[in-house]
Parts: sequence; structure tokens; C-alpha cells
Amino acid sequence: MAYKNRIAIFDLGGQYTHLIARKVNKLGADSYIVYDTINPEIRPDTRGIILSGGPNSVYDKDSPQVSPHVFKNGLPVLGICYGHQLMAQILGGKVIQGTVREYGAASLKIKNSGFLFEGIRASQKVWMSHGDSISKLPPGFKVLASTPGCRFAAIGDLTRGLFGVQFHPEVTHTTSGRKILKNFLFGICKCAAGRDNISEISILLNKIKSEAGKSRVFFLVSGGVDSTVAFTLCTKALGENRVQGLCIDTGLMRKNELADTKKAFNNIGLTNVDYLDESAAFLKALKGVHDPEEKRKIIGATFIKVQDSYMKKGGIAKSNWLLGQGTIYPDTIESGGTKHSSVIKTHHNRVSVIEGLKRAGRLLEPIADYYKDEVRILGRQLSLPREIVQKNPFPGPGLAIRCLTAKQSNRVLEELPLLDSHFPKRSFTVRALSLKSVGVQGDSRSENRVLVVDGNIPFNQLENISTSITNNALYVNRVTYLLGAKGILGNAHIIKCEITNDRLDLLREADFTVTRLIKRHRINKKIWQFPVILVPLQFVDGETVALRPVSSVNGMTAEYTKMPKKFTYELAEQLMTIPGIDAVLYDITNKPPATIEWE
Ligand code: XMP
Repeated sequence: MAYKNRIAIFDLGGQYTHLIARKVNKLGADSYIVYDTINPEIRPDTRGIILSGGPNSVYDKDSPQVSPHVFKNGLPVLGICYGHQLMAQILGGKVIQGTVREYGAASLKIKNSGFLFEGIRASQKVWMSHGDSISKLPPGFKVLASTPGCRFAAIGDLTRGLFGVQFHPEVTHTTSGRKILKNFLFGICKCAAGRDNISEISILLNKIKSEAGKSRVFFLVSGGVDSTVAFTLCTKALGENRVQGLCIDTGLMRKNELADTKKAFNNIGLTNVDYLDESAAFLKALKGVHDPEEKRKIIGATFIKVQDSYMKKGGIAKSNWLLGQGTIYPDTIESGGTKHSSVIKTHHNRVSVIEGLKRAGRLLEPIADYYKDEVRILGRQLSLPREIVQKNPFPGPGLAIRCLTAKQSNRVLEELPLLDSHFPKRSFTVRALSLKSVGVQGDSRSENRVLVVDGNIPFNQLENISTSITNNALYVNRVTYLLGAKGILGNAHIIKCEITNDRLDLLREADFTVTRLIKRHRINKKIWQFPVILVPLQFVDGETVALRPVSSVNGMTAEYTKMPKKFTYELAEQLMTIPGIDAVLYDITNKPPATIEWE
């Protein structure tokens, strides 16, 4: 594709750097990512610079820096999050660790409606992820917008064309993010849009042919949209004889999942797929494992072991072959795939053996630069059936990261005075579980406490309560609301347990009930993904189920789905009729600060 104008994106380790680049391209300009931000190579035709976010604090000793010349060469600059703070610090402002952090939704009030905010309503929902804040503006800058927790949420030196935003305009949850970026590219940088209209599918097919050369390609396929699109593209490009798929029953799939996948592949006419039941091997490997990252690495390694043995048996290992994968960009960035980025979680397709194959040039990942919403578009262009294209995402490690375990029993559930100053007349209690979950806070991984809010609360107040808690209590990344229980929260306890077949079956049953009911009530259209989690929190003699419906576009940011109250309680009631389910929690946390999966 040929573009007319370029935007340099300086990578300071952000989770969303690549997303900024994709967004800029989609808006019609041409982006390139600059990794050496101290001695940057600015290409000809560059019209502006964007500084990404990042996991560090600008005042840390070895934090990523940019050359001060960047602000003197006459090109407009937009700093985002860490980039916003770094620009302020370099130009004479001050950045400090804030007393209030902001994760997820925040309400932006615009004070200067021109430039970045041209044509945008004065009040906006934006998405934040920061603990540090600018405390003093650099000379020449003024405030363009604020949120209740951040006075300098958008700043600008209008004469020099330097702008900074604390929030993330590149993520879909910032309502006018696209328009803000567009204003920067075309209003401020004066880019001229225009690109050739070449079919993306034909570009991908040619790329696969050239990368594969004369090799065969071996694929693990799950029936999800990513691996199916990548596998279909390779089969189209190279022919069935050179591409072999293997679908493994890990024992960590949802109810009926494998049968549905087989049916779907047969309907598409993908006959170059084998099926293998390896559930015993996966369960054995997970015995006694509690640490979330260890769990992921063991699952990744077991996939490789099963694949090796299959390839040896089938004689494929002797031939010249590449490993094909349906990796998409979030898998790479969340696994810490760029110079300064943090490991949020190691995806099964990014474990060390795979990294070795990558370095040896033995990996073929045709859609590695894509996001889920873009993969779905490719799926439609390939005429894949709707049940595959629109299928809810399901993680590679499957139910293993939704079946929580505990090394030891723990009766204590502290009651927290946490929100006394924010909600002085509150009619609810807040307790911390002796259980952690994974989150993403300020572009870094967090393993923090899960809280349970208990009381009679109007549903429209839940998000405010959850956001207030996570913005104020550093040790929390996930807040849940107790929908129903067979006992009293204060008497409940975490039970010692592992991943077992019985527990997985219980989780499968709960997950199946949820899927059935949301379909019947036609709630599924609003929901991007609906993880159901088995939490070893016992009230009587069973466990607890947590509901995690989220609305998202690409999984990089997410909002917990506000389901209708009546339906939510009906769902909880139904779940509690399943023998072994004692209680139901509703996860009311956005991403950030929580990730979608609990792990
Ligand atoms: P998180 O939990 O990081 O998840 O907010 C974002 C999206 O990615 C999915 N996910 C995975 N998908 N392999 C995958 O193919 C994995 O290891 C993996 N871990 C998380 C998750 O379900 C959500 O859609």
C-alpha cells in the first residue's frame, strides 16, 4: 500500500503502540514505529510524531527517553500517557506519583474546543491507565481538558504544535478517540489521506507463498476465529497437501466445543485436519500447579510435546516444515513482545520453544499484525461461516485459566473500611478474598486482590463503586458484586483445591447454563465475550461462580457489560440450582485495571 504522509510513532513500551500505528493507517495516513527513541531516524515525508504510553515512571532511573530535538524540529507532537508525561518533564514541567490513580473509564471536560478537540462535545468518556500525573505544566503549555482525577488530562503548546493527553485516544473505549487522532493527523499535522485499494486477502496469500517457499506447514487449530482464518489462508495459498492441521482435545474446552468445531470444519470443507484426545496429558501436567504464569507455560509446553509426537508419528517431522499459528498482535504485546513492554501474560503461542522456532525462521504467522475485529473481517471475506467468524474469543489455555485453585484453605475475609470517605452512607460491605487475579495497570501486569461488594445496590451505581475502589486501593485490581449465595459472606472461606476433572465438569456445566440463557434472552449480541470462572469460595459445601461478561472490540480494553438486573438475578438463581454451586459473583471491573480473564 502506498500512503502520502507519514507519522512516526515512538515506542516507549506501551501496550497500545502497535494499535496506534494500525489506527493511524486505517485513518488514511502511513505510520512507522521508531524503537530507537534517543537517536531516532525520522523518515522523509514525516508530518508528525506520536509518543506512546509505557509501563515505567518518567522519573525512574532507566526509563525510556526521547531525544529533546524531537520537540524542536517543527513537527507536531502528540504525547500519549507516558509520552504525555515524558514530554512535559523534558520541556520543564514536573511529574509525580499521583495520590489518585485512574484505571478504565473517566469523564473528560474539554476547556479548549479547537485543535485536538475540534468538533467534539465538551464532555467525553475517555479510557485511562495511570498512577503518575503531571503536577506542573512546562512553560508555554496550557490545559486543554481535565478529568475529576487529573487536572492536566490534555495539554498543548498551540504555537509549537505540541500536545499531550493522559488518556488513550487509540483505544475503542475512548468514545471520540478516533476523531481526536483524526484531528491530530489531518487538522494539526496536515497529512493528506490516500492509499491504494489492494485486496488484503491477496496481499496475505502472496506473503504466505513467499514465506513458505517449498515447506509444508503444520498447524494447531482450535476452531476459534484466529486459527481458522490463518489455517484457511495457508490452505488457500499452498493447497491442502502442504498444510496439515491438528485439533487437540485438551480437556480444557467448553461443553460440546470439539464436536461443534468438527462440524464447522466439515461444513467449510477443511478436510486436512486431524483430531486427538490428549486431555489426560494436560490434566496430569497441571497437577499441583497454582501460579498463573506457570500454568500458562506448562500448557504451552504440553501443546508442543503433543505436536512433536504427532509429527514424528506422521512422518511430518522428517519433511521440511514450518509451524503455522493464528497469532494475533495482542498475543505478542501481552507476552512482552517489544523492547520496553511489560509481560502481562505469556500466551501459549509465545512460550520459549516457539520463540526459538521464530528466531530460526520456522514460524509462519500470517495474521500476527491483526486484531480480533480485523480478523473477523478477513473471516467474512474468506466466506467462513458465521458461527466461526462471530464466535466469542476463547483463550488457548482454555478453562485452565478460569478454574481457579488455592494452595491452602483460608477462612479470613477481611471487611474493609475502604470507601468510608467516598460513600459515607453506604449500605454495603466490602471484603477482600485471600485470592489474587491478574490485571493490567499503567501498562504493567498486576497480581492483586479480588474484592467482593455485598449489599443492596442499584445496578447503575456499580461501575462508580468499582472504579472508586480500584482508583484508590492500590492492592486491588478486580471488584465483584455478590448476586446470591447459600450462606453469609463473612462465614465463607477459600478452599484448598487443584484443577481436576470434576471441577472442570462443574465449570463446564455453569458455562453451558450461561451460554444457553444469554442466547435465549438474546443478550449475547451485546456481549463480546463471557468468561465464567470457578472460584474456590465456599459458603456451604460447593464453590462460587463468577460472571465476567465484557463489551470490547479487540480485547485490548474492555468494559464489563451492564446486563439487565432482572436477567442477571435470574441467571444467578439458575446457576445456584446446579449441585456444587454455592454463590454467584458479577465481575464489575473494566480493563484496565483488570484483564478479561482472571487466570
Ligand atoms: P485478557 O485476559 O488479557 O484477555 O484481558 C484478552 C483476550 O485474549 C484472550 N486470551 C487469550 N487468547 N491465548 C489466546 O488465544 C491466550 O493465551 C489468551 N489469554 C487470554 C482472552 O480470552 C481475551 O479475549
